[in-house]
Amino acid sequence: SSPLRIALAGLGTVGTGVIQLIEENSALIARRSGRAIEIVAVTARDRSKNRGVDLSPYRWVDDMGELATASDIDVVVELVGGSDGPALTLARETLSNGRALVTANKAMIAHHGAELAALAESKSAALKFEAAVAGGIPVIQGLRDGAAANRIDRVYGILNGTCNFILSTMEKEGLDFTDVLSDAQAKGFAEADPGFDIDGIDAAHKLSILASLSFGSQIDFGGVEARGIRKILAADIAQAKALGYRIRLIGLAEIDGENGSAEIFQRVQPCLVPLTHPLAHVIGATNAVVAEGNFSGRLLFQGAGAGDRPTASAVVADLVDIARKETGPAFSMPSSKLEKLPRAASAHR
Ligand code: HSE
Repeated sequence: SSPLRIALAGLGTVGTGVIQLIEENSALIARRSGRAIEIVAVTARDRSKNRGVDLSPYRWVDDMGELATASDIDVVVELVGGSDGPALTLARETLSNGRALVTANKAMIAHHGAELAALAESKSAALKFEAAVAGGIPVIQGLRDGAAANRIDRVYGILNGTCNFILSTMEKEGLDFTDVLSDAQAKGFAEADPGFDIDGIDAAHKLSILASLSFGSQIDFGGVEARGIRKILAADIAQAKALGYRIRLIGLAEIDGENGSAEIFQRVQPCLVPLTHPLAHVIGATNAVVAEGNFSGRLLFQGAGAGDRPTASAVVADLVDIARKETGPAFSMPSSKLEKLPRAASAHR
């Protein structure tokens, strides 16, 4: 059957990873998808930059908007980033034209996921964002599909690879966090604005998405209280360890109260995690997500939370899904059915 023709917008760490994956695994992807996945067009801000991949087989497009309309493109992969601006314009135009959109953009989904999901549904277009949360871990699919039969009242985890890398390295080397941040940036894990990582905002974006998938509620990014790791010293880490704990930046969302009067609580903050808990043993740029299903029991998803190859793995999984035409709703149910939950007052906690 005919190949799935894709366009890539954004050729940073993830974009080049996607090109490498599609080249290296093309045969097995074609077998699993039932058809080839073919990159047709690419675009990025700077054409001349050396990215270590050969772009010559692909059509270079200067005007990103073209990707939403060009007749030889089935799916637009948005890897531009930023909650608004060009990424959001491209996402809206792509879906408005009834074309599938795959994105790794957690900020955009956290802020505009409801609108984009409704738009996708109205046009019967796929909207997929596996790469937006926890890099290579298939946690969106895990919660949306694998755990779909469960009531989930609690979801939590380590959602930012940069912070976990920094905290792990601080512990290992006895360094303070400013000494380690540039390492994380050099490895390509950090956001363009690393303040998003270290102040807990990136984790908050991801938590709001996980909460929606877990609880069947509308995304409420504004309801996430976020604190980051700027103030943590090597001495804090050493002291915690002496008492049997590790400091981890944890995002936690839970439902308080019964059906009808349920409230949502969402917070990102550095926590003391006992060494007996699996999350204390998540080291480096790894992420982990725990969801408690009333029938499945405790589920633990763990894996690389950032980086070119793991994140590309999630992006291309979405493409395989689209190639197989196995697309359900973007979230765990049609967007009109997502409940709007009131926020729990945090003062009592
Ligand atoms: N800056 C993010 C992180 C990248 O460090 O986890 C993956 O979303």
